[in-house]
Amino acid sequence: MEVSSYEKSYQEIKDTPLAIFVFEEDFSNLKYADAFAEKLNKVLSAENFKGKEDTLIKVPLLEDDAVRTFYVVGLGKKDKASFDDYRRASAILIKRLKKDKVPFAHIYAGEIIDYKKSKAITEGLILGHYSFDKYKSKKEEESFSVERVSIYRGYEEGIKVGRVLAQAQNYARDLVNEPGNVINPITLAEIAQNLAREYGLECKVYDEKQIQEMGMHALWSVGKGSATPPRFIHLTYRPQGEPKDRIAIVGKGLTFDSGGLNIKTGDYMRTMKMDKSGACAVLGIMKALAELKPQIEVHGIIGAAENMPSGSAYRPDDIIKTMSGKTIEVDNTDAEGRITLADALWYASSLKPSHIIDMATLTGACIVALGEYTAGLFTNDDNFGDRLLEMSRETGERLWKLPMDDKKLREKLKKSDADIVNTAGRYGGAITAAMFLEEFVGEGIKWVHLDIAGPAYFKEEFGYYSKGATGFGVRTCLEYILSLDKGT
Ligand code: BES
Ligand code: MN
Ligand code: ZN
Repeated sequence: MEVSSYEKSYQEIKDTPLAIFVFEEDFSNLKYADAFAEKLNKVLSAENFKGKEDTLIKVPLLEDDAVRTFYVVGLGKKDKASFDDYRRASAILIKRLKKDKVPFAHIYAGEIIDYKKSKAITEGLILGHYSFDKYKSKKEEESFSVERVSIYRGYEEGIKVGRVLAQAQNYARDLVNEPGNVINPITLAEIAQNLAREYGLECKVYDEKQIQEMGMHALWSVGKGSATPPRFIHLTYRPQGEPKDRIAIVGKGLTFDSGGLNIKTGDYMRTMKMDKSGACAVLGIMKALAELKPQIEVHGIIGAAENMPSGSAYRPDDIIKTMSGKTIEVDNTDAEGRITLADALWYASSLKPSHIIDMATLTGACIVALGEYTAGLFTNDDNFGDRLLEMSRETGERLWKLPMDDKKLREKLKKSDADIVNTAGRYGGAITAAMFLEEFVGEGIKWVHLDIAGPAYFKEEFGYYSKGATGFGVRTCLEYILSLDKGT
């Protein structure tokens, strides 16, 4: 789908439906439709349409003998309307246009459409248009594609960046939605290599032999129970000339999490193809960086493994030596993400980045704490954490900070024959998991951990999400990297 900009009166765009975004109790934007404004106002009040956020009404009106179709989309109260309200309004609109099989449409969202609004609208359109239907064999079950939407006075740079960000997020969604029989550690590594080739990134993949030679016995242990061995993936985006900063983005890459010998029950195992969401977000981010070319060096790090029970699987009680030299005692093989991340974070630290962000579908406890729509944020540097919280308010990717300073909770991880044990009881499970990770972050490196177990995957559609993978985290990380480049 194309998103473009136009600057014409409503009379000059007669041939296509027009969408008008309005505020709650302030329909002043209807003025753009000039002669139709009064009729529209009447219909909206008769239909009791208030312009609340996440609402849409279709209004076909007669002009002479021809039907002119309007879509009026609510943004909520004018003083409260956020970028995410524009993003969701655009998504709700595009979902409806798809359903109505409308190939072309125009959007009027106000007279002044700046960079950020244009970006938000474009993102909403492209994210809302997403569907995963490649495995449906009947053509009619494939959804209709909208060809082009044009934004009144859309700001070109905002449309361009919004398109790259949303496409990166959709790319991550496509990968996460692929099941475990299609994407396993080996095929994920191949996807990374193909991406690197196509987009001019560096990519180094380490196989199971090299993983062990490097001392990554943590990643190896988690992966060795599967018929498909683990892979370690290191992508690099290098700008031309001197970079302003060096960042590492680390993603949990469990292509399937059965729980291992501590096997999950059926209900909990279902959807565990999404346990690679962090890794897929990393791939989406690297793709977008190659397109946007900021002056920042970025390393994308993925430990890819499949957690399976078998005769060669790691066991409860096993003691594993990690790449850092620290030893881990395995209490529960289903707390595998943190074990793989121990080596991934240590490796990332060895690259001496100023900042590391990791994204991981790490704990069910985080979903219990915050609900499924918000990711947990954990950090060793409050300024860095606050920075991402600030970004997230604009991207609509909800983040909430959880504490890392609870010494009593931290002690529980040390009750072990080894240096650290991989679980510390039910209470505060998201926090103890984050504390575990912190042990493997190098001295002096600012680090944020995002526990995306909740928002990475939804069982029902809403806003700009469809059922399934969301690509959560891609835009917030990218906006952070872009803000480093711009120095804002
Ligand atoms: N991948 C899961 C966490 C998860 C749960 C992600 C639900 C998305 C939705 C993780 O590997 C896991 O199994 N965690 C355990 C940890 C426990 C054994 C300490 C959990 O949360 O139950
Ligand atoms: Mn698990
Ligand atoms: Zn897992």
